[in-house]
Amino acid sequence: MKEFIQSLPKVELHLHIEGTLEPELMLELSQRNGINIPFDSVAEIRDAYNFHNLQSFLDIYFQGANVLINEQDFFDLTWAYLLRCREDNVVHTEIFFDPQAHTERGILFDTVVNGIHRALDKGMTELGITSKLIMCFLRHLDEESAFETLVQAQAHKDKIIGVGLDSTEIGNPASKFERVFKEAIKQGFLTVAHAGEEGPASNISEALDLLNITRIDHGVRCSEDAELVTKLVAERIPLTVCPLSNLKLKVVEHMGQHNIVALLRQGVCVTINSDDPAYFGGYMIDNFLAVNSAHPMNKVEIAQFTFNAIEASFVCQNEQARLRLMTQQYLDLHQ
Ligand code: HPA
Ligand code: ZN
Repeated sequence: MKEFIQSLPKVELHLHIEGTLEPELMLELSQRNGINIPFDSVAEIRDAYNFHNLQSFLDIYFQGANVLINEQDFFDLTWAYLLRCREDNVVHTEIFFDPQAHTERGILFDTVVNGIHRALDKGMTELGITSKLIMCFLRHLDEESAFETLVQAQAHKDKIIGVGLDSTEIGNPASKFERVFKEAIKQGFLTVAHAGEEGPASNISEALDLLNITRIDHGVRCSEDAELVTKLVAERIPLTVCPLSNLKLKVVEHMGQHNIVALLRQGVCVTINSDDPAYFGGYMIDNFLAVNSAHPMNKVEIAQFTFNAIEASFVCQNEQARLRLMTQQYLDLHQ
């Protein structure tokens, strides 16, 4: 089963590019850019990755992002992730970035987007990996800052397909961003939002009702509301679930407690994703293996995660058909 998982074509839909900053690159960039970080070695950095909740992670994540200064840094970060995609047989990826984490430090929006986009372009031509870019608003910042970010995105609409919502869920309800999302939709952006990661199932319903989103990031607490699960199944509303993230941020105590496979078997359009792999100890294959070892599945069930992700992705129907065919051929060959 391990080999089946390793070579299975995969589609990633929940990946923060800043969360792919490996300690080695963090140290290199801190030296290259003369930015002080409170660590002297890779081992010290890894030792600091002991999280007890979402906030304890976010503090370290934003601190790590401080070493990203120049366009080349954003390129290097994204290129390193794409090389990992190739290793994990990720054939399509939809990447989040947090512009405010950088513009708040005086880095230009253009610098961030251009660096990431140049790497994604190269990923397509040299690795054959397709991608989309989604910009997230930081929910701990105010509505005005989100609106300013939306204005800055205007010049890059050709590179950004959608908007999302991340950072501290508790205390920052979806309602705070209702008007920004309305405006983003008016401007033609697709929409997603983190909800029901640390916050209750009602946060998922609220995000669906107020923000008009087409998929939910995390959403694992949906199980607390049977009516909501019925709606997710009936309307094929996808959840981009991140198993190792949930484990590391103590959303679940152990993988055996995770509901992802139960949700799959109930017919929810759940997908497997790595979220912030440099911080949570695993990329896509690691996430699939962790789920399968706690909840053994057959090959059809495992491949269903890829079929779900294709359906939930923002690529056109022709491209979805190409990816489905690739996955079906793989499954047929290995049944
Ligand atoms: N949740 C909220 N915000 C985030 C996450 C997450 O899992 N990763 C990066 N920013
Ligand atoms: Zn996330």
